[in-house]
Amino acid sequence: MILVTGGAGFIGSNFVLDWLVQHDEPIVNLDALTYAGNLNNLRSVEKDPRHIFVHGNIGDAALLSDLFTRYKPSAVVNFAAESHVDRSIHGPEDFIQTNILGTFRLLEAARAYWTGLETKSDFRFLHVSTDEVFGTLDADDPAFNEETSYRPNSPYSASKAASDHLVRAYFHTYGLPVVTTNCSNNYGPLHFPEKLIPLVIHNALQGRSLPIYGDGLQIRDWLYVKDHCSAIRRVLEAGRLGETYNIGGWNERANLHVVTTLCAVLDELQPRADGKKYSEQIALVTDRPGHDRRYAIDARKIEAELGWRPTETFESGIRKTVQWYLDNSDWVENVTSGSYRNWVEKQYA
Ligand code: NAD
Ligand code: DAU
Repeated sequence: MILVTGGAGFIGSNFVLDWLVQHDEPIVNLDALTYAGNLNNLRSVEKDPRHIFVHGNIGDAALLSDLFTRYKPSAVVNFAAESHVDRSIHGPEDFIQTNILGTFRLLEAARAYWTGLETKSDFRFLHVSTDEVFGTLDADDPAFNEETSYRPNSPYSASKAASDHLVRAYFHTYGLPVVTTNCSNNYGPLHFPEKLIPLVIHNALQGRSLPIYGDGLQIRDWLYVKDHCSAIRRVLEAGRLGETYNIGGWNERANLHVVTTLCAVLDELQPRADGKKYSEQIALVTDRPGHDRRYAIDARKIEAELGWRPTETFESGIRKTVQWYLDNSDWVENVTSGSYRNWVEKQYA
């Protein structure tokens, strides 16, 4: 049994679905079902006895203690977090609560459980983190590696950095068998349409504007979500304790390039009824405060030590993603109803 947190969110649900294909080991999936968590993501495993869903918060110490006692997990994979940078700028409180205090409670519960284990070496705590903790790069800086200093710039990345430091401290102070991964920008199926790629696909199909912050020349390093999942499985299997592993696919792209690529794929797969190009919907809008200019991941450590490689290129992954959104309009309809619809209609009327 492994304990996955945040397994109803974007990456967590992709991980759960992949895990159940690759492994026999069951999963307890603890998720608070915030706006970003969605049980529809897990509909295909609803009746699978190897998947036990628990609706709850990683900050709930009593619940955690009960789950560790009852299920005796061999590993924890901690995805649960508030994940959207823009939301952290408008309201950082939830980010502090979940990303810092929640991770602290989870570490405490894991430590209490692990301390009582007879075979302590059988347990792993894998903390899923981000490249945003390293801050921003100039055009000619080398990519982030595992030795790069932490310089978080947003409330989101600062909260993730704090959680990473706690995880590190639990290894050095208590010997808790931890490993941390720092991944670049993910994209793919089941991505909530507040993030750039699913937002652009959704807005394009709705005939809304495609908002690009500032000059659109900010660079992100994109990784197809299934490749992130395979990297996490590999780190769980063979990662060295106390180490961190950067995960990325060597796919640096400027935002403007990402959006025009999406428009071109949409033009091909689902042309506009009026014969015009989707790129006509692009609108440069006010920049995000404190917007990091460039992220880039040096993934040589995980490649050399653990033999992990991504399978998708940016182009193949983007095409698969657009096709997934076209094939799953009911999923999009479901997650964009209610409060999302009110929010988005105000922004992109
Ligand atoms: P997401 O926002 O899609 O999903 C987060 C999930 O966590 C949701 O299901 C939500 O309900 C759950 N959750 C939130 N607060 C909780 C709490 N207090 N207790 C229990 N569950 C809670 O996020 P995501 O994009 O899937 O990211 C998952 C993890 O990966 C995060 O830790 C994020 O920092 C990290 N990460 C994301 C990316 C990316 O590009 N999306 C890249 C690198 C790392
Ligand atoms: O780098 C990893 C991080 O990637 C993760 O840790 C975060 O959880 C995840 O949300 C993501 O953060 P970003 O801020 O990079 O992702 P987002 O999709 O919000 O934005 C990608 C880029 O696109 C960024 O430069 C901001 C820009 N952008 C975003 C939105 C939503 C726009 O230009 N317009 C938009 O409407």
